[in-house]
Amino acid sequence: MGTRTRASLSFGLRAGRAMRYLRAMVGLTQTGLTETAAWKDLVAHARELDGERIDALLARDPGRATRWVREVAGLRVDLAKHRATEQTLTLLVALAEARGLPAAIARMFAGERINATEGRAVLHVALRNRSGRPVEVDGVDVMPEVRAVLDAMRAFAREVRDGTLRGARGDRFADVVNVGIGGSDLGPMMVCEALHPHWIDGPIRPHFVSNVDPAHLGRTLHGLRPETTLFVVASKTFTTQETLANARAARAWLVDALGEGAVGAHFAAVSTNHEEVGKFGISRERTFGFWDWVGGRYSLWSAIGLPIALAIGFEGFEALLAGAHEVDEHLRTAPLAENVPALLALLGVWYANFLGAESWAVLPYAQALHRLPAWLQQGDMESNGKSVDLQGHSIDDYTTGPIVWGEPGTNGQHAFYQLLHQGTRLVPVDFLAALQPDWPREGTPEPLATMLRDQHLLLLSNVIAQAEALMVGKSLSAARRELEAQGLSPDEVARLAPHKVFEGNRPSTTITFDRLDPRTLGALLALYEHRIFAQGVIWGVNSFDQWGVELGKQLAKTVEAELRGSASASEHDASTEALIAEVRRASR
Ligand code: F6P
Repeated sequence: MGTRTRASLSFGLRAGRAMRYLRAMVGLTQTGLTETAAWKDLVAHARELDGERIDALLARDPGRATRWVREVAGLRVDLAKHRATEQTLTLLVALAEARGLPAAIARMFAGERINATEGRAVLHVALRNRSGRPVEVDGVDVMPEVRAVLDAMRAFAREVRDGTLRGARGDRFADVVNVGIGGSDLGPMMVCEALHPHWIDGPIRPHFVSNVDPAHLGRTLHGLRPETTLFVVASKTFTTQETLANARAARAWLVDALGEGAVGAHFAAVSTNHEEVGKFGISRERTFGFWDWVGGRYSLWSAIGLPIALAIGFEGFEALLAGAHEVDEHLRTAPLAENVPALLALLGVWYANFLGAESWAVLPYAQALHRLPAWLQQGDMESNGKSVDLQGHSIDDYTTGPIVWGEPGTNGQHAFYQLLHQGTRLVPVDFLAALQPDWPREGTPEPLATMLRDQHLLLLSNVIAQAEALMVGKSLSAARRELEAQGLSPDEVARLAPHKVFEGNRPSTTITFDRLDPRTLGALLALYEHRIFAQGVIWGVNSFDQWGVELGKQLAKTVEAELRGSASASEHDASTEALIAEVRRASR
């Protein structure tokens, strides 16, 4: 075991002891995952594999370069650069079987209430079900309702885009502003960014306002014309503070310019809470519903995807659904050893639980995917950032969801890749790249078109090189030789060489696809969603609730009332009191 892995494991154990103590204080008992034979086999296997290098595995078995590539729905998932052998995969699959992953997948598709703490089914797969098969919750097929909402979205998107539906003064809509946060923002926003070439020449430009910071709405409205702006207020609960504050301010902006009577023509809503939507003044005809079995962070496939349909057209939105459905079918039917989302999940578990990785970096070599890491942060961390298992047992002897982070390459290379290559932490990486560029597009003039094509080649050479560099590294002797070749003195060579060593053996997955079109994007996102689900099953957590976001929301209400002076100061700690006093002073 490398010193770094040992150090991080020993930190993990110390942290585990502290957590055990805390859990004991609040009366939670412990879960049994680490006592299973499958887990213990993996612990032993990690020891056996200590010191094994990925590049050596490839050198001994070049066939691994093709055998460890999996294909699903137009995605080529290259697993060859993992610190893992066939035996590792066999043991990981055994763990998944021991944890009942196949049965859990079947339960999800069967509409069972697997979100146990909220008593809800989990059926984002129904939203993109193109099979014609019914999907039942408590014996009732949800597909007719799903199709009815899709039909309503299709009609609305078509009529806005072709100018049948217009603003209060008869203008065609040119901009749609989605007002929502979390899952009611990140999914559609990330998809619209990713599919920018599909709407840039179209009739509707999408915008997204999420932050309660007035700068977000203020800046977005600046430059928009009320006459041609459509707002979609997206909130599953329609109680989210940030969304309601932004929606009210947007409404005031519109009313100021066009009068109260314009609200009906310029506002639509996406929500499960028809009562609150009605109170806001949005009619039932302009409200697109969804269901409690759609988790916020899994909702872009529902009417929450309305801005996508408005921007790229409904056919594009359907292609997105179709790509996701293909991966759903794969998840449902492929044996675990061939099941790509399951394998990705298991390799993530391998690094997190057996090799001490604390985080996972997602690095798209596609500018269009620049918000993918943000979407995945909510998807993964809100789903699996849990420390209590489904039975209510405390989890204190293994880690659950990792810290997810990332930025597009090549920007990241000039920022944090230093840590990936030479830092003390093991960070497994996902690289993503499209083989065909979005740019140049048809009609791009020369010489720009040739230059842009050439830049795409630069982009691809960087992603390939980074994966190689992480794996191969550079030895001390190679670093010495390089410095000697530059003519440095022996002393200088000895002084500088250690700083130029790359230990390598750092794992990565490379996911490539032909082009970032709606169908491929849908497949990619579903792949990640199911990776999250499968990991949640291994860790025994409920990946579909999010109680951890509630405490801060609750306290913010108390603090807000105190800042407004509408409530007398309640008991806070001294530090919180000081911050409240500071804000009070500043706003006097
Ligand atoms: O605060 C977390 C959260 O509940 C997310 O799970 C959800 O996606 C987001 O807030 C927005 O919620 P809503 O769609 O109800 O406004």
